[in-house]
Amino acid sequence: MKFQFHYYQPEFEDLPTAVEHGLSQSPKQLHPKFFYDKEGSSIFEQICEQPEYYLPNVERSICEDFADEIIACLGEDCHIIEPGAGSSHKIRFLLDRINPAMYVPMDISSEHLRISAQKLAEDYPDLPIHAICVDHTKPYELPTEIPADKRVFFYPGSSLGNFDPEDAIHFLRDLHAKAGKDGALLIGIDTKKPAEVLNLAYNDATGMTAAFNMNLLKRIQSEMDSELDTTSFTHHAFYNFEHGRIEMHLRSHKDQKVRVNDSIFHFQSGESIHTENSYKYTPVEFVALAKEAGWQSERVWQDENGYFSVHFLRVS
Ligand code: AVJ
Repeated sequence: MKFQFHYYQPEFEDLPTAVEHGLSQSPKQLHPKFFYDKEGSSIFEQICEQPEYYLPNVERSICEDFADEIIACLGEDCHIIEPGAGSSHKIRFLLDRINPAMYVPMDISSEHLRISAQKLAEDYPDLPIHAICVDHTKPYELPTEIPADKRVFFYPGSSLGNFDPEDAIHFLRDLHAKAGKDGALLIGIDTKKPAEVLNLAYNDATGMTAAFNMNLLKRIQSEMDSELDTTSFTHHAFYNFEHGRIEMHLRSHKDQKVRVNDSIFHFQSGESIHTENSYKYTPVEFVALAKEAGWQSERVWQDENGYFSVHFLRVS
């Protein structure tokens, strides 16, 4: 049996605790990890099919155009570790071209991870897979079955953008410590570009991004004892030039009270819940950020418009 499942009780904050805490803060906020219940994960997959949300398409085309070079960087018999692997879609691109000695998908969502990893094991029967259920934003150790050499962390999709730059450095430093002496990192990073393009990507015409954001309110409504008029909130996403990030908010368009369990939260008209940041980095900015975490840039690949970047870095 080449498939093993490790479950490290992820101590994740539950939605009620996060809502109680986040709506008491000023400005009101909620962590983007709460987007990804079953419904939210499926809406996210649909966002990825919207033409305005260029990220997955451009990342895929970069990987296709530079496949040979990327593969040459990874080398023979590597051990690929993917934090936040989700449905393990993107790894298939690599698995169709190389034979790593091991694949280690990690995700907080236990069932989703188990099903995806099992499916992958069927499609790649010779590949040893160690699936690890863990919250990779909290401290954890990799199981001893994962060889300490030839580790390559794979972090596509610009997921790093959800961290504030300080936290991104901490996260990259943790990967650096886990990667070992000959370790590497293959990571996809969304770049800075004209604000119109970014604003459209997070305000798609079909309204999938709006639905993704609004799903948070639906979760509060259905999972908690609450009095909440979801129709009095709207999706608001914009590029914050100063911080170099997209911000997503749920904005109340009237003065109102929202009750969740025993707590009442007051909203003024125009006040919002800040639900996500998505930082954008030029290749030079990202290389500098990664360097602070100990990583040495080896290669950077981009599309012809410079809309996205794929970086290969080594433990220096
Ligand atoms: C999964 C964090 C990379 O920031 O672009 C997509 C999430 N939010 N549309 C991103 C997201 C709204 C996405 N990441």
